[in-house]
Amino acid sequence: MTKRQPSQPMPVAVLLSGTGRTLDNLLARIESDRLPIRIARVISSHAGVRGLQIAADAGIDHRVVAPGDYRSVEQYSRAVFESCREVAARLVVMAGFIRFVRIPSDFDGRVVNIHPSLIPAFCGKGYYGSRVHRAVLEYGVKLTGCTVHFVDNQYDHGPIIMQQAVPVLDGDTAERLAARVFEAECQLYPAAIAAIAANRVHIEDRWVRIDPVPNAAPEETS
Ligand code: GRF
Repeated sequence: MTKRQPSQPMPVAVLLSGTGRTLDNLLARIESDRLPIRIARVISSHAGVRGLQIAADAGIDHRVVAPGDYRSVEQYSRAVFESCREVAARLVVMAGFIRFVRIPSDFDGRVVNIHPSLIPAFCGKGYYGSRVHRAVLEYGVKLTGCTVHFVDNQYDHGPIIMQQAVPVLDGDTAERLAARVFEAECQLYPAAIAAIAANRVHIEDRWVRIDPVPNAAPEETS
């Protein structure tokens, strides 16, 4: 990734499909000066979703790139990433984006996602939303969590950047567990994106190395 001056916020494109809670959280972090990025464009796979309204209310360029308007995954992916190039996005942040896209070579290592489990458990095709948490409860694991990872051309497969564990409690429902995992996501995703923005994240095959924060005590995620 090209080095930027630390004073310039990194331009980012956000991809979403629905409620936009993740976008909301990123905007709150930017607003309170805890995340040095600029959201240059929000792209939704669906029209009329709350995520688009959040972008509109924040005065952010937003548009719909709907899979139904394209004949293949390849054509759809080209349209999505062309839209990201138009705003010179250095990083593409998937934020509740449920469509599969193929990553073009110029965006290799520049697309991130957050998944609501500890990958490689409870992930892959079909594991999204409450299905993930229901599967966790059905299996009976005691620990779940969330994973920020680079996106490659397989579902939930690219190199892992950060993970946060969340205990599964007696009597948990999928809704209660989802809420606690999402609280963890609200800390973890901005922390990972901030590390990328500071050029502290390096991909070494499947291992992601993160430089410590210069002149800082142990890193805080809140
Ligand atoms: C979360 O479960 C996250 O792990 C996944 O999408 C959900 C958030 O979607 N990637 P949204 O931001 O509420 O639309």
